[in-house]
Amino acid sequence: MKSSLYLLPGFVLAVLGATIQYVPPDQWDALNSTVGGHLHVAAPFSRACFPEAVTGVPGTFDESACTQVQQNYNDPASRSNSFGAYMNTQWETCEATSEQCLLNFLNTSDPSAFTPPQVCAQGGVPPYYIDIHGPGDVQAAFNFSKSTGVPLAIKNSGHDYSGRSSAPNSLGLWTHNLQQISYDSAFVPAGCPDSKSSSGVTFGAGVTLDALYDFADANNLTIPGGVAPTVAAAGGFLQGGGHGIFSNAFGLAADRALQFKVVTPSGTYLTATACQNSDLFFALRGGGGGTFGVVLEVTTRPLPQLAFPVVAVTLGDVNATQLSEWLRFLVANAIPYAETGWGGYIGYTTGAIFANPLINETQAASEMASLKDFLAILPNATFSLSTQPSFLTFFDTFAAILDAVPVGLPLSASSRLIPADNFRTPEKQAELATTLETVLQVSISPFIFAVAPYLFEDDGMTSVTPAWRGAIWHVPISAAWNFDTTKEEKKAILTGLSAAMDLLRAITPGSGAYQNEADVHEPNYTDSFWGANYDKLVEIKRMYDPDHLLDCWNCVDSQGPTSERFACYI
Ligand SMILES: Cc1cc2nc3c(=O)[nH]c(=O)nc-3n(C[C@H](O)[C@H](O)[C@H](O)COP(=O)(O)OP(=O)(O)OC[C@H]3O[C@@H](n4cnc5c(N)ncnc54)[C@H](O)[C@@H]3O)c2cc1C
Ligand SMILES: *[C@@H]1O[C@H](CO)[C@@H](O)[C@H](O)[C@H]1NC(C)=O
Ligand SMILES: *[C@@H]1O[C@H](CO)[C@@H](O)[C@H](O)[C@H]1NC(C)=O
Ligand SMILES: *[C@@H]1O[C@H](CO)[C@@H](O)[C@H](O)[C@H]1NC(C)=O
Ligand SMILES: *[C@@H]1O[C@H](CO)[C@@H](O)[C@H](O)[C@H]1NC(C)=O
Ligand SMILES: *[C@@H]1O[C@H](CO)[C@@H](O)[C@H](O)[C@H]1NC(C)=O
Ligand SMILES: *[C@@H]1O[C@H](CO)[C@@H](O)[C@H](O)[C@H]1NC(C)=O
Ligand SMILES: *[C@@H]1O[C@H](CO)[C@@H](O)[C@H](O)[C@H]1NC(C)=O
Ligand SMILES: *[C@@H]1O[C@H](CO)[C@@H](O)[C@H](O)[C@H]1NC(C)=O
Repeated sequence: MKSSLYLLPGFVLAVLGATIQYVPPDQWDALNSTVGGHLHVAAPFSRACFPEAVTGVPGTFDESACTQVQQNYNDPASRSNSFGAYMNTQWETCEATSEQCLLNFLNTSDPSAFTPPQVCAQGGVPPYYIDIHGPGDVQAAFNFSKSTGVPLAIKNSGHDYSGRSSAPNSLGLWTHNLQQISYDSAFVPAGCPDSKSSSGVTFGAGVTLDALYDFADANNLTIPGGVAPTVAAAGGFLQGGGHGIFSNAFGLAADRALQFKVVTPSGTYLTATACQNSDLFFALRGGGGGTFGVVLEVTTRPLPQLAFPVVAVTLGDVNATQLSEWLRFLVANAIPYAETGWGGYIGYTTGAIFANPLINETQAASEMASLKDFLAILPNATFSLSTQPSFLTFFDTFAAILDAVPVGLPLSASSRLIPADNFRTPEKQAELATTLETVLQVSISPFIFAVAPYLFEDDGMTSVTPAWRGAIWHVPISAAWNFDTTKEEKKAILTGLSAAMDLLRAITPGSGAYQNEADVHEPNYTDSFWGANYDKLVEIKRMYDPDHLLDCWNCVDSQGPTSERFACYI
């Protein structure tokens, strides 16, 4: 029997299996008073543009509010600041039923997206959310979920590619407004001896990467991180790994975490470090967001401020032969680059940007001389070498290249970590280059990320797949669609992405994928995302979440596709 979910004003009727679970308004009111009035109703981001909405969707048509939405539809900061918005907008919808509240992202004034017969539906946006201010709010939420059966969805910036921060008919826990940041030059992780002190930057769960970069710069520090300014540094990013241009030299964000403050599903507010609750510390350093508890605060180990060489390349006009030579050049040089500390982002058809925090400009010029020579034979390629005085300056100077992944559209990814072995011999190099040529063609933005922590020596206390450590490249491909794409077309797009990635999977047996930029239908995801760490993660999950109050798509010990929570996935 097909079960359905209804949302009516003021309360939720959830059909869980065959039993209707009804949460009366007074229970929501009680929850609201327990959390000091921080409970809110949520509408999808574009609600104000729709004259008609499904019963129960809060808000109304509002022309000036709609204009704001239309203008900011593709702006990551506006989406990050709005609970009802997600970066990859399919997660605001219910793909299985095609219920949605989206605009035409190519032309947000296109009325065919929002005028009747279109109606705004709640989709996957949690109808209620708590704007988390502290541990008490989270404890109340776990208690509420346990006694009512209403599922929880932890949301931060809403960047997730697999819909792990939304869920239909759930109670959202929004950690976005936890915004404090502080610096301690002699930070001692809780439970550790003073001899373990190091510098530490402590930040609330909602702090975005750009705010952290600003803070680091103002304090003469470096905090390595990724490219999207509004990704939440302590959220799914760090808990799932967290790569950036310095990862090769300085590790993933998970590698640099010193301490977590977290409310576990049993309602305990605790501090996890290498010296206490170390099992949870291990799990939060790579086991994935949304699984082990609600993280309120993280302390990371910063580096001193540093100047470093950057090489920026644009290819200009190139034909197919030259593109092929470019790729083969990069494949042949990938190991030497990694071994000397380079990280980078490669646009297969456009150019590249490389940075190396371990060497100076003179050494960089000598190491990149062959790249410069290679480019000299292209008609209008450019090569520039500069020394950037700080990570923030670097980030600002190259923002247009670094922050190039679009948001505010339905976009899906698939990816693979490419082990060093695939680069070792001329035969392997040829096989990899030939395979990449086919795979990258499928992608709307054919990127190669040289962000694996190849050179960094990890401390053995992270739970990301060990495949990350032996890899050189992380290769993501992506596909996008629009508000009027049919469910069948969407399924075909997802299948096509995964089929293309099968070619890379086939030549990288035993490797894995980065869970945060992965295929929604990643084959053998437990092995792919966590490898040999998986069984231990399941044990830790069951210890801290015995009632399974937290779950998310392809997360550790997930109840899987048949769970009502995942009814919107296709
Ligand atoms: C445009 C774009 C650029 C990106 N660039 C990079 C990059 O450079 N490097 C990189 O490594 N990744 C990058 N990513 C991927 C990014 O790491 C993931 O999208 C990640 O899930 C974002 O985490 P979030 O908390 O900000 O997002 P959300 O979607 O809000 O949350 C993601 C997951 O984390 C959980 N979560 C969030 N906050 C908490 C919390 N406080 N406690 C417990 N669980 C929590 C959620 O429940 C969910 O499961 C990018 C993504 C996009 C869309
Ligand atoms: C929760 O209480 C606050 C403060 O009284 C109120 O503004 C808000 O609307 C309430 N939320 C819900 C969902 O009723
Ligand atoms: C966007 O849609 C509006 C309304 O249909 C139309 O007037 C306008 O020309 C479109 N703009 C573009 C750039 O296509
Ligand atoms: C837990 O939930 C129950 C039932 O909803 C409620 O009576 C109790 O007060 C709650 N306790 C806390 C600490 O929120
Ligand atoms: C910033 O840090 C660098 C590297 O540690 C140091 O050389 C420099 O003196 C510091 N500058 C200031 C203003 O503190
Ligand atoms: C690409 O350009 C180069 C240099 O002009 C030329 O030698 C080569 O034949 C061209 N290849 C194709 C496929 O046009
Ligand atoms: C660059 O680094 C090399 C190797 O450490 C060193 O020999 C050289 O003096 C440095 N050059 C400058 C200009 O600092
Ligand atoms: C690149 O160089 C070619 C050959 O010299 C020329 O035809 C073309 O216009 C140039 N393109 C750009 C974008 O400068
Ligand atoms: C997934 O696991 C199964 C069983 O272990 C194995 O047969 C299969 O080859 C794996 N698939 C991939 C893509 O790794």
